[in-house]
Amino acid sequence: MGYWTDKVVMITGASSGIGRGVALEIASRGAHLGLLARREDLLSEIVSEAKARNVKAVSVSADVRDAKAVRAAADRFRRELGPIDILIANAGIGTANHITRLTPEHAADVININVLGAVNSVAAVLPEMIESGQGRLVAISSLAAYRGLAKSAAYCASKAALSTYFESLRIDLRHTGVGVTIIHPGFIKTDLTAGRAAKMPYLMELDYGVKKIVSAIEREKKIYSFPWQLATIVRAGMLMPVAMYDWIAERNSFRE
Ligand SMILES: NC(=O)c1ccc[n+]([C@@H]2O[C@H](COP(=O)([O-])OP(=O)(O)OC[C@H]3O[C@@H](n4cnc5c(N)ncnc54)[C@H](OP(=O)(O)O)[C@@H]3O)[C@@H](O)[C@H]2O)c1
Repeated sequence: MGYWTDKVVMITGASSGIGRGVALEIASRGAHLGLLARREDLLSEIVSEAKARNVKAVSVSADVRDAKAVRAAADRFRRELGPIDILIANAGIGTANHITRLTPEHAADVININVLGAVNSVAAVLPEMIESGQGRLVAISSLAAYRGLAKSAAYCASKAALSTYFESLRIDLRHTGVGVTIIHPGFIKTDLTAGRAAKMPYLMELDYGVKKIVSAIEREKKIYSFPWQLATIVRAGMLMPVAMYDWIAERNSFRE
């Protein structure tokens, strides 16, 4: 029996891109799926594709900003699929606005969806996981979490918050049986990156990114950053003095 066989996995942001890709990949490996996003029509197609792989799948159309709706979705997944073994908090939106064009409303959307959406998702599964003494919480963060990038103030802030939130969870949940995996992907070809004319070094195909993410969860990694080339550059950036970092970051701003 493989790692995913008969595991019940709740995925937020499952209607497209990474969420959809991970859902179908783990369904092929025997996982049962609880799928959440706003676009019900897209979720229904994934439910059909999952069922064709002989696993159970249930979808709920909900906005991750709505804590009650996310909790109700998780309750339905538990009722129809069984206890949730793994949460993949993946729902997120991007932004690539120069700070002079970033409105507070847009910044709030990014932070509410990318951070509070994940907080709501964790709250919908954690009490039951702690009670059963097992489970895994996975955050799809980003290499953008490590340091501020040009034209990405709200996105970088949201991903830094997401990663540190899950890092604190990891410490709080030691000895409970509930594990935490924080994933920091670089650029992957999805709707989120499709509109960008910006430079995207080491841009990955979706299938490749999905397999890397699935494998990191399977190996129960605490933190997984990829591709290694960009992860190394980003980590080197963390050690740089501010003046040097600013000089390089301005010239390599993945600019439009
Ligand atoms: N692609 C990359 O290069 C990359 C790199 C690093 C990290 N990431 C992260 O990976 C995650 C997935 O992004 P992606 O690249 O796969 O983009 P995507 O194809 O645009 O997928 C985003 C998903 O999030 C869902 N979503 C957005 N707002 C939501 C809300 N308020 N409530 C519920 N669901 C919501 C969307 O579904 P609905 O619109 O149907 O609600 C969609 O399923 C994001 O957190 C992103 O930051 C992506």
